[in-house]
Amino acid sequence: MDSAIRKTLPGVSYHSDETYDIDKERVFYRNWVYVGRAERVAKPGAWLRVEIAEESILIVRGKDDQVRGFYNVCRHRGSRICDDASGEVRTHLRCPYHAWGYALDGTLAITPMIEKDEIDRESTSLWPVHVEVWEGFVFVNLSREEPRSLREHLADQQDDPLGLARFGLADLRIGHISVNDVQANWKIVIENYNECLHCPTIHPELVAAVPAYRKGNIFENDRHDGGVSLADGRTAIVDDPRLRLPLLPGFKKDGDPEAYYGAGVYPTMFLDVDGSSCLTTAVFPTGPRSCRLVTEYLFSSEALADPDFDPSPIVEFNERVTHQDNEACERVQRGVTSRAFDHGVFPAKDSWVHGFDQRYLRDLEDDPSVERQDA
Ligand code: FES
Ligand SMILES: [Fe+2]
Repeated sequence: MDSAIRKTLPGVSYHSDETYDIDKERVFYRNWVYVGRAERVAKPGAWLRVEIAEESILIVRGKDDQVRGFYNVCRHRGSRICDDASGEVRTHLRCPYHAWGYALDGTLAITPMIEKDEIDRESTSLWPVHVEVWEGFVFVNLSREEPRSLREHLADQQDDPLGLARFGLADLRIGHISVNDVQANWKIVIENYNECLHCPTIHPELVAAVPAYRKGNIFENDRHDGGVSLADGRTAIVDDPRLRLPLLPGFKKDGDPEAYYGAGVYPTMFLDVDGSSCLTTAVFPTGPRSCRLVTEYLFSSEALADPDFDPSPIVEFNERVTHQDNEACERVQRGVTSRAFDHGVFPAKDSWVHGFDQRYLRDLEDDPSVERQDA
């Protein structure tokens, strides 16, 4: 009965300003963080602004087709450079304050009304951040040191995200993007994703599609591919007559189309794949008690090329489930903020949530001086 006495994080971890400051430094400014699909910066000059725990970052595709990341901060007097969520420039990112221009590789190139040799342009490029792309998913790392590779990070997870590459994720394309603001700490949302004990009570539609979830299980012991079986010989979670999508290419050769596969990537990404689509969710903390969920709905190019392509049944289904989850998370947020909540407990079926908490605590224990020495 050992597992019955495992404790959750203390209540203060889910709402205090101090914890949020620690989360920023130890989790969000040090780990690889998923920000969005590479196709959102499809062409040279395209850029995307993402907010990683209050650091504004620009993801930019260069003339050489490389995807790079920079702090959204001008080297002149520190103005934000881009306010919009995304955009496209031909040659330069222009600061709106004194019109300094930066080439797509971050180099300072234009300084109106300033003598050419007055500023050492070599040392005034936009501040870069680490960027790596896996299967079309762009990750950013704000660490000041060289981080371990994204691949190593992906291999060091409770789940097996690398294994999902067999479904041909790199070739999938966005059919829809949704944004949901949740009044709950980011950890509450991730913890919720890591268990299905809540499924029978709050997700009637989901448990009808995945029988294992009806019993609160996130795995099936007799399956060895990490998937859970779908009900009634379905090849997708959503069983809607309006939906006639081709199987994802990877399923044709290496996957059971009658199953559903999921994987979390610490700290804030989750991936859900079925025969017709891959849903990718990035959780962006927006404060100690709130976060923003951005879900990209990915489909095969074959599906998107069909003039009758319509992702709405999948979007409607998933948004309903997400809404059910978000309401639960907001209710948890209100509960854990009580002075009575010193901590909760983990039964055995919460082992994945416990695993997430352990991983989080490991980040907190790491020596902070390593990050701060060149600050
Ligand atoms: S602050 Fe950007 S050009 Fe002056
Ligand atoms: Fe849920």
